[in-house]
Amino acid sequence: MTDQEVIARTAAFVKAELENAEGGHDWWHIERVRNNAKTIARMEPANPFIVELGALLHDIADSKFNNGDETIGVEKAQAFLRSLLVDESVTEHICKIIENISFKGGNVKTDFFSMEFAVVQDADRLDAMGAIGIARAFNYGGFKGRELYNPTIKPMDGMTKEQYKSSTAPTINHFYEKLLLLKDRMNTETGRRMAEQRHQFMVEYLSQFFREWDGIASR
Ligand code: ADP
Ligand code: NI
Repeated sequence: MTDQEVIARTAAFVKAELENAEGGHDWWHIERVRNNAKTIARMEPANPFIVELGALLHDIADSKFNNGDETIGVEKAQAFLRSLLVDESVTEHICKIIENISFKGGNVKTDFFSMEFAVVQDADRLDAMGAIGIARAFNYGGFKGRELYNPTIKPMDGMTKEQYKSSTAPTINHFYEKLLLLKDRMNTETGRRMAEQRHQFMVEYLSQFFREWDGIASR
């Protein structure tokens, strides 16, 4: 099977797996991350085949969709890639990428690194920023029944994985607890440049949000 065929089969597999996923994590998230990843990979020394496969499969292991179990998705991806007779070294690499990709609160560092992982993680982080990131945050908050904002509930610093997962704070807090931190966590130069612009857009969005919240008239 050619690399292009493997990619096409994987895309179809992921699309079917995510059929019933909620809006922030649906197939279109995967498609956007894939596009971000391809853009970054063109500028960085990363294997484009592994990057694209990694982007396609990166959320298949999301524990939110597997009753909190973080291993099910990796096993699913592994079984799928083996069924296509993809090189075992590529399959192992993809499994490492999906195991290590998700944001686990501010303090947790992972020990795995590869250029391909760096690119996919940047691509995923970019989709949590900017106009799309804002839309996803409020979509997630609505899905969870959160308030948009509550001036009496302050954002928290340096949350643990447990605090991050169990937070019921208003959606605006999520900007301070995660989204505005992302630009300084980018792995690649290209990712950092793309993040800068999306970061700036969120900063402007928040300042407008608070002006409107306080009923300040625009000039
Ligand atoms: P990832 O899959 O990148 O690890 P998550 O599953 O944590 O990200 O989040 C998916 C999307 O939902 C992201 O855009 C993220 O910003 C948003 N999100 C996650 N937690 C919250 C929250 N507490 N409030 C608002 N949005 C959130
Ligand atoms: Ni993702």
